[in-house]
Amino acid sequence: MSLINASYPALKQALFLMQPEPAHDVSLGMLKAFDKTKVLKLITSKPIHSNPVNIMGLHFPNPVGLAAGLDKTGSCIDAFAQLGFGFVEVGTFTPVAQDGNPKPRLFRLPEHKALINRMGFNNPGIEQGIQNIQASKLRANASLQRVKIGINLGKNKITPNEQAAEDYLIGMRAAYTTADYLVVNLSSPNTPGLRDLQAASATQDLIQTLKEEQNKLAQETGIYTPICFKIAPDLASEEIKSLSEVFLDEELDGLIATNTTLDRSSVNGHRHEQEAGGLSGAILHEKSCSVISAFKQELADYIPIIGVGGIDCVAKAEQTLASGAKLIQIYSSFIYHGPQLVHDLAQLKVSQDSE
Ligand SMILES: Cc1cc2nc3c(=O)[nH]c(=O)nc-3n(C[C@H](O)[C@H](O)[C@H](O)COP(=O)(O)O)c2cc1C
Repeated sequence: MSLINASYPALKQALFLMQPEPAHDVSLGMLKAFDKTKVLKLITSKPIHSNPVNIMGLHFPNPVGLAAGLDKTGSCIDAFAQLGFGFVEVGTFTPVAQDGNPKPRLFRLPEHKALINRMGFNNPGIEQGIQNIQASKLRANASLQRVKIGINLGKNKITPNEQAAEDYLIGMRAAYTTADYLVVNLSSPNTPGLRDLQAASATQDLIQTLKEEQNKLAQETGIYTPICFKIAPDLASEEIKSLSEVFLDEELDGLIATNTTLDRSSVNGHRHEQEAGGLSGAILHEKSCSVISAFKQELADYIPIIGVGGIDCVAKAEQTLASGAKLIQIYSSFIYHGPQLVHDLAQLKVSQDSE
C-alpha cells in the first residue's frame, strides 16, 4: 500500500475536525503543493493505465473518473491524475466568475457517508478555468495526455433560462479545444430553475443549438469534441423516456447520470436533513443505478453512459456498470475513503462490446 493510502485515515480524522469547506480547501492546497514538489509521485502508487475503456471516440486509460465539483477551478488536474484517476472532470464553469451561495453551504452526514451541498457554482469563470487547465502538465505535455479531461459547463445564476443557451455556447467555444469532452450541466439543484431545462422540449432546443455549434467548431478546428449532458436522479420514468427520445434524435455523444438528489427519505431524522441542496454519497447509489438502467433500456448502445452516484466500493461500481454505465465517477466516497478507492476501482474490467 502506498504511503498516501496508508496515511489517509489519520489525515481524514484531522480534516474532519474542520468545517467541510475549509477542509476541502486545505486538502486541495496540500495536493497541489505535494504535486508541484514531486512529493506526490513518491508517496502514491503508480497509476493504472492498462485497463482502457473506449467511448465517444476517446481512449480512457482506466474506468474511474473524478466527478465534477471537486476541482472547481481546474488547478489540481495533475494531482488527481497522479492519484490514479483515468479521467478528471473539472468545473462547473460559468461564463462569468461567481461566488456561489452564502456559507455554510456544504454539510457532512458521516453516519450515511453522505454530503449535502448548495455551493451554487462558485467558480473563477470559464476563461480563468481554461488558463488553469492549459497550465496543467497534462495539457502542456503531450506524453501525459492519456488521462482525459472533461470540462463541465453551467449558466450564471443571473442568466434567465431563456438565455441559458448563450451561456452554454460561451462555455463551449472557450473550452472546445482544451477539453477531451464537454459536459452540459442541467442538473444542479443549486441554480434556481436550472433543472427546468431538463424538460424534453427545452432540452431539444438546447442540444440542437449546441450540436450546430459543435459542427461549426469541428470544421474550423478539425477536432471533434464530444458533448455529454449531465442529468438529475430525480426524474420520473416518463421524463426519462421523453428525454431519451430527444437524446437519440439529436445524436447526443454521452450521458452523465447522475447529479445529487433532492430526496431526503434516506436521511430521515438526521440533523442536516432539512438543509437545502443536493444530497450525494452512499445513499444515492440505488437511485442512480435505477436511473442509469432506465436510460440504458432506452438508449441501448447508441449513447454511452458515465455512471456516478454513491459508488464507494468495487461491488457498487460493478452494479453501476451492470446497470449500463461504461465509465464511473466518484466524489463523496473519495472524501470518506480516500485515494485507495481510486486504485481499487481503476482495476475494474469493463466490457468493451459496444465499440
Ligand atoms: C460539494 C459538491 C459539489 C458539487 N459540484 C458539482 C458541480 O459543480 N457540477 C456538477 O456537475 N456536479 C457537482 N456535484 C455532483 C457530483 O459531481 C456528483 O454527480 C454527485 O455528488 C454524485 O456522486 P457521489 O455520490 O459520488 O458524490 C457536486 C457534488 C458535491 C458533493
